[in-house]
Amino acid sequence: MEQSTTLELRNIHKSYGELKVLKGVDLSAKTGQIITIIGSSGSGKSTLLRCINQLEKIDSGEIYFNGNVIVNDEISNKSKIIKENINDLRKRVSMVFQQFNLWSHMTVIQNVTEAPTSVLKMRRSEALERARDVLTRVGLEDKLNEYPANLSGGQQQRAAIARALAMSPEIILFDEPTSALDPELEHEVVRVIKRLANENRTMILVTHDMKLAKDISNYILFMDEGKIVEKGSPDVIFNNTKTDRLKKFLETVSFSNT
Ligand SMILES: Nc1ncnc2c1ncn2[C@@H]1O[C@H](COP(=O)(O)OP(=O)(O)OP(=O)(O)O)[C@@H](O)[C@H]1O
Ligand SMILES: [Mg+2]
Repeated sequence: MEQSTTLELRNIHKSYGELKVLKGVDLSAKTGQIITIIGSSGSGKSTLLRCINQLEKIDSGEIYFNGNVIVNDEISNKSKIIKENINDLRKRVSMVFQQFNLWSHMTVIQNVTEAPTSVLKMRRSEALERARDVLTRVGLEDKLNEYPANLSGGQQQRAAIARALAMSPEIILFDEPTSALDPELEHEVVRVIKRLANENRTMILVTHDMKLAKDISNYILFMDEGKIVEKGSPDVIFNNTKTDRLKKFLETVSFSNT
């Protein structure tokens, strides 16, 4: 069966003042595809993810979700349409951050039920049931009533992944989900991510962990100075590297043992 395109970015530009961070980025994600973005620090990877779910406003370009336009140059000044489109998008695209970003004043289960009840207007009982389910899937069924401060980094990140899953998102964005963790905790988070990768869920992952990128991706994008410089399957990226820039980058990065 032909897979449909869930997310499409065309010619995205983004600057902070004089600094051009994204210089015409295209990206197309099909349903169930796992796309990994690699590239050196400052190349624009986090900015790109933040533009996808509109935590950052793009300067120009187009974003389509399931064939519907979310933002383009024509409607970017029509604030009402943009706001509706963005709200709609955020119901279906969840993000997991490097620093977990759990709400510290809420317990684990409160963190996980918050968006389904407030954003999706789900009944409390249903949200609780779903929260228990996703927390069990990430191995935190015994931590429901703990506050984030009482959890290890790996547990906090797994709670953050459960929070994202509780929205039943069509796409999950991960921004370096393992790089704030000690190696032994990294392992447990990688295991959860790999399991999700097998569930036919569309994921876009930024990571410095080339072993993880190699293991789980269908497609890899290499970003350098705000542009996608090279793209292809893991085999193409790692074994048939074309550009000197990517060759240099691959010489500097680690292949961890997770
Ligand atoms: N809110 C902001 N205001 C001004 N400059 C910013 C802002 N966010 C990012 N930048 C700049 O944009 C550039 C790209 O940053 P970005 O965080 O996207 O890089 P990255 O590829 O994710 O890097 P890393 O691998 O270190 O996380 C950097 O030069 C950064 O300093
Ligand atoms: Mg980043």
